[in-house]
Amino acid sequence: MRRVYLDNNATTPVLPEVIEAMRPYFGERFGNASSIHHHGQDTRAAVENARESMATLLGCRASEVVFTSGGTESDNLAVAGLVAAGDHVITSSIEHHAVLHACKHLEEIGCEVTYLPVDGRSLIDPDDVRRALRPNTKLVTVIMANNETGVLQPVEEIGKIAAEADVYFHTDAVQAAGKVPIDVKKIRCDALSISGHKIHAPQGTGALYVRKGTHIQPLFYGGRHERSRRAGTENVPGIVALGKAAELALQGFANGNDRTMAASRDRLQQGILAQVDEAGVNGEGASRVPNTTNIYFDHIEGEALVIALDLKGLAVSTGAACSSGAIEPSHVLTAMGLRADRARSSLRFSLGKQSTAEDVEFALALVPKTVARLRELSPVYRKTATSC
Ligand SMILES: Cc1ncc(COP(=O)(O)O)c(C=O)c1O
Repeated sequence: MRRVYLDNNATTPVLPEVIEAMRPYFGERFGNASSIHHHGQDTRAAVENARESMATLLGCRASEVVFTSGGTESDNLAVAGLVAAGDHVITSSIEHHAVLHACKHLEEIGCEVTYLPVDGRSLIDPDDVRRALRPNTKLVTVIMANNETGVLQPVEEIGKIAAEADVYFHTDAVQAAGKVPIDVKKIRCDALSISGHKIHAPQGTGALYVRKGTHIQPLFYGGRHERSRRAGTENVPGIVALGKAAELALQGFANGNDRTMAASRDRLQQGILAQVDEAGVNGEGASRVPNTTNIYFDHIEGEALVIALDLKGLAVSTGAACSSGAIEPSHVLTAMGLRADRARSSLRFSLGKQSTAEDVEFALALVPKTVARLRELSPVYRKTATSC
C-alpha cells in the first residue's frame, strides 16, 4: 500500500544527507569531545562546526548555542533556568506542554504565572503582555509557531516589550525553525528553543540559544560541558546531524523551498475546502508557517478520521491529546474559542521537505471521500442533513 506522511509537526524523517553526515561518528570517529587526544579533538571540531551552523541559522554567535536532548529540555532549561521562587512569569494559554507544564512546576515552587488568552486566530495581543507586566516579572515565554495550527505569534513586538521592561524573553521556536527564517536579534529574545526532529535531524537532539551574558541555572549537575550550561557528554552524532539539518534549512530558504511548501499546503487546504462542506481552517487569517494547516470537519470525530485515513495510507493527526483513556479537546483549539466538538473534529496536516506534489494529490483524493463516508455513518449528521 502506498503510504503518505503528512504529520511532520509530530516528527520529520531524517534526511539522507543528515544520515550521511552523522554516520562516521557512530564508528571510526567515536571520540569523547572532551578528550584532549586526537579522537577527542576530532569530535570536538565536529561539535563546534555544528554549533557554527546552528548559530548561522539563528543569527547568533556560536558560543550562544547550547546543545540539548530536544525541544522539551530546551524549553525546561529556559523556563526553569531563568526564574526563581517569587518571580512572576508571563506565558500564553497555547504553549506546548513542555512550557505549560514547566510553568505549572514553577507555580508549585512559589512563582506566579500569568497565562495570556488568545483571539479566534490564536494570536496573543502584545498589549496583553505589556499589561501583565509586574515589578517582579522575570520572564516572558511565548511560542513562536504553534505546533497545532502553525500560527506565528508577533514575537518581535513581544520581544521589544520584554526588552524595554528589562525582562527575559524566551520563545519556543521548535515549530518555526527551518520553516521561517529566524533572527534572534530581531526577536530580541534571551533564549530560543530548537528541536532536531522537527527539522529532519534525529529525535533526541536539540539546542537552546542563550544570549551572551544571560545567567541560566542548569537543569543537570555534572561536568562543565556546554560552558557549564548543560552537563553531560555531548551526543556527537546527534549534534553533527543537527548542524547538517541547520545547513539544509538555510539552503532551503535560499532555494525558495518555503514558498514552494506554502503553495503545496495552500493547494491541499483549498482543495479540501472546495470539496468538503462544513469545514474550515483553524487560525485562518493569521500568518502561519508554510507547512501546516489545521482543518475542522464538523460532525466528524477527528480520531475516527485519522484512523480511517491511516487505513488508506495517509498519516495525519488530530489536535486532540489523549489522557488516561479520555480524549480531551486540544487546549490550543479551545483557547481559540472553538467548541469542544469542533476542536475534536480538527485534523492537522503538516508537510515536510520530503513531501511531494503527488503526496498532496493523494491526500486530496482521499480526505473528502473519507469525510463524506464517516458523515454518512454519523447519526447526528444524518439527522441534521435530513432536517435541513
Ligand atoms: C512547539 C513544540 N515545543 C516543544 C516540543 C518538544 O520537543 P521535543 O519533542 O524535541 O522534546 C514540541 C514537540 O512536539 C513542539 O511542537
